[in-house]
Amino acid sequence: MTPQQKPDDAQILEFTVEDLRAHLREALSIYVEAMGYPKGTVDARAPMWLAHMLRPGWRCVAALHGDSLSGIAYGYTGQRGQWWYEQVRSGLLKTGGEAAASAWMSDYFELTELHVRPDRQGTGLGERLLRSLLRDARSRHVLLSTPEGESRAWRLYRRLGFLDVLRRHQFVGDPRPFAVLGRTLPL
Ligand SMILES: CC(C)(COP(=O)(O)OP(=O)(O)OC[C@H]1O[C@@H](n2cnc3c(N)ncnc32)[C@H](O)[C@@H]1OP(=O)(O)O)[C@@H](O)C(=O)NCCC(=O)NCCS
Repeated sequence: MTPQQKPDDAQILEFTVEDLRAHLREALSIYVEAMGYPKGTVDARAPMWLAHMLRPGWRCVAALHGDSLSGIAYGYTGQRGQWWYEQVRSGLLKTGGEAAASAWMSDYFELTELHVRPDRQGTGLGERLLRSLLRDARSRHVLLSTPEGESRAWRLYRRLGFLDVLRRHQFVGDPRPFAVLGRTLPL
């Protein structure tokens, strides 16, 4: 067994707005490393994460090894007027019409971010974070978007029963094709 295959001994904690503010750069660094984005993305993304914290239904969980952050997940209640809501709704209107859009989007929790530090991946930590984030979500559905293509994230979402909501969706400003996946809650 390699160290990566051992069951993970991280502590999973619910983070308040103040907790995430205090760990913002560390959390953003995990996001940047996990996604393979350039380091400058930390500064570019900070205002968005700070704004998300103020949205209704915002919840956040973090994985800690001692004092060191090793994973982060957050989301909030999806609502009309939010950029992601409008992008996904317009895609759903084109592919499934109003019925599909309202079936998925009338009451959902948006899983906005889920990231595990690369050297801590592959031990079940992402799944623990996701389960813990969704445990108390009161929405009917959970929705997320992820880049198309084979990845550990895809394996995790499929293992937990996420279904296709939209495939090869093009978000404005991002050339990559994305899948929007969803499932009913509770998990
Ligand atoms: C997606 C991501 C959060 C998943 O977290 P993770 O901790 O790496 O993965 P999981 O929790 O699914 O762990 C499952 C893996 O650990 C292995 N594992 C080992 N011990 C385990 C245990 N005790 N329990 C569960 N899984 C265990 C499983 O075999 C599985 O391996 P596999 O994915 O190769 O099949 C993480 O890989 C990541 O940050 N990726 C980059 C960023 C990203 O894509 N984020 C999502 C954007 S939408």
